[in-house]
Amino acid sequence: MLSYGRQTIDEADIAAVVEALRAPQLTCGPLVARFEQAFAAWCGAPFASVCSSGTSALHLAYAALGIGPGDEIITTPITFSATAAAAYYVGATVRIADVDPRTGNLAPASVAPLITPRTRAIVAVHLGGLPADMAELRALARSRNLFLVEDACHALGATYAGRRVGADDSDAVVFSFHPVKHLTTGEGGAVIVRDAAAKKRVDRLRQHGIVREPGAWAYEVQELGWNYRLSDIACALGLAQLSKLDGFLAARRALAAHYRAELARVFPGDDRISAPPEFADRESAYHLFAVAIDFAGFGVTRDRAMAELGAAGIGTQVHYIPLLHHPLHIGRCPDECARPRPGTDHYFARTLSLPLYPTLAPADATRVVEELHRVLLGGSR
Ligand SMILES: Cc1ncc(COP(=O)(O)O)c(C=O)c1O
Repeated sequence: MLSYGRQTIDEADIAAVVEALRAPQLTCGPLVARFEQAFAAWCGAPFASVCSSGTSALHLAYAALGIGPGDEIITTPITFSATAAAAYYVGATVRIADVDPRTGNLAPASVAPLITPRTRAIVAVHLGGLPADMAELRALARSRNLFLVEDACHALGATYAGRRVGADDSDAVVFSFHPVKHLTTGEGGAVIVRDAAAKKRVDRLRQHGIVREPGAWAYEVQELGWNYRLSDIACALGLAQLSKLDGFLAARRALAAHYRAELARVFPGDDRISAPPEFADRESAYHLFAVAIDFAGFGVTRDRAMAELGAAGIGTQVHYIPLLHHPLHIGRCPDECARPRPGTDHYFARTLSLPLYPTLAPADATRVVEELHRVLLGGSR
């Protein structure tokens, strides 16, 4: 079965983890700072803090920025639940904007009307690895004195205006190291913040709010924090994976180009199906390869297409069921549900993520496109 995403682990990764298991410290040891420094340098950022997941990275980011009860953040409906849930963890309210129907990314024009005196942050998600409209969102955040947070869980290695995501001066940029992402530590994540004081706060919150002088036995718990640490075992895997990240990215981009060419070959001139759009000022990291399909135009439901692809050994997924379709978020944002979101409706109705990971064989990608053609054009019915 081809899954929509999966990890890429080799013997060097396994050897690195085994070596870490033989070290005196399995956690809170030297590999944490080494991984943080190497990760930050790769992104072009001054520093990073690693933690236990992308979700905890979001929680740490919101908490370190001082977002709390009574505050509002504005984000996209086309994201994983954690983007919003982490705001609930700090007691904030989430306002849900609309997306660009072509990309599924936050539409800047839909953000401005949601800004209130309580708004503290705009949270962009780089869906599938394609950076959101950061120039517009940054200008809006600056003009309204709001934090700009990037949920870059899909976008490690993406570039915007020639700079890697994480290198720009957003207030926080968050990554995930879940196995389907660009590099994995099993579970894990990272936060990049702009100044040393913010990094210190993130690091303190990651470890129970504890402050300890170097070398001292005594410590002080200064505020409520969590255990969101990443172990040395996980950091060993992260370092080994990081050394291969350029290759992982190149493989993902080559497969995306292959899919694009195969879609053009197998569906020539058919405007009912399209590859994800590309833009001159940004380069996707291709966490996902999500095609837009006019299922009604083909006379087949998405459920049926996914089931038939599954029967042919091809796993697909939908990224994402919009936040406001879930009881959690409906319950939290009842006044938000009724507002029309035409971009979201359009994007959600059409999107389908095809298998994409560095070791996917181009021949398998070709088979995916050919099976998609059979399923959509009724060859099996
Ligand atoms: C956009 C987005 N944000 C946040 C997360 C949460 O990351 P994690 O699974 O590492 O907690 C994910 C994970 O899938 C994600 O895709």
